[in-house]
Amino acid sequence: MISIALPKGRLGEKALKLFQEAGIIPCGDIGFSSRKLILELPGSGVRFFWVKPSDVAIYVERGAADIGVVGKDILEESSPDVYEVLDLGMGRCRMCVAAKKDFWDNPNRTLSVATKFPTIASEYYERQSRRIDVIKLNGSIELAPILGLSDVIVDIVETGDTLRENDLEVFETIFEISARLILNKSSAKFRQDEISKIVSEISKIIESKG
Ligand code: PRP
Repeated sequence: MISIALPKGRLGEKALKLFQEAGIIPCGDIGFSSRKLILELPGSGVRFFWVKPSDVAIYVERGAADIGVVGKDILEESSPDVYEVLDLGMGRCRMCVAAKKDFWDNPNRTLSVATKFPTIASEYYERQSRRIDVIKLNGSIELAPILGLSDVIVDIVETGDTLRENDLEVFETIFEISARLILNKSSAKFRQDEISKIVSEISKIIESKG
């Protein structure tokens, strides 16, 4: 059986639909429940695991899953040793620098940056030879500049609602994000036939969606 790690939540549910549309698993009710962590579909030769989005790449890198669906943000942050084979064109958002609307950046000062993505933030400012102080947070990043914990944030912006509702705005876009299909390296080699078939079916359905 091929094991597929999906991110819990909306993106994972959309990805599951994609596997249905691609004919890899049956359409209709397949007994999906957000509380059950493993969904076995023996007739189709695959089973799905629901994991925390930031853990998908770890399962795939270490071979607990053969295939995974993960955001480009997580791949950029942790650079897992996996093959990134397809852009699924879903889960679109962007990695941005945001701050209070009236923030004025003095380039001669060390910039304090609150983020869930310390590697992305550090590399981004390193490319600009800018000295920064990274403050690693785990959520509700938008609070940091409001409470004076940081000058700016590096975070994901999807609809922009969270920024708007907190009087913050985007200063720069670092990169665009979408969900990617990743493969465990040894599975890609030793289970090539089964995995290529899945990748090619998914690829066809994405192309047909334009
Ligand atoms: C993410 C991100 C922003 C928000 C952006 O947080 O960190 O806070 O979504 O979405 P929007 O542009 O559509 O408002 P998430 O929902 O993952 O929760 P968190 O704050 O706990 O990280």
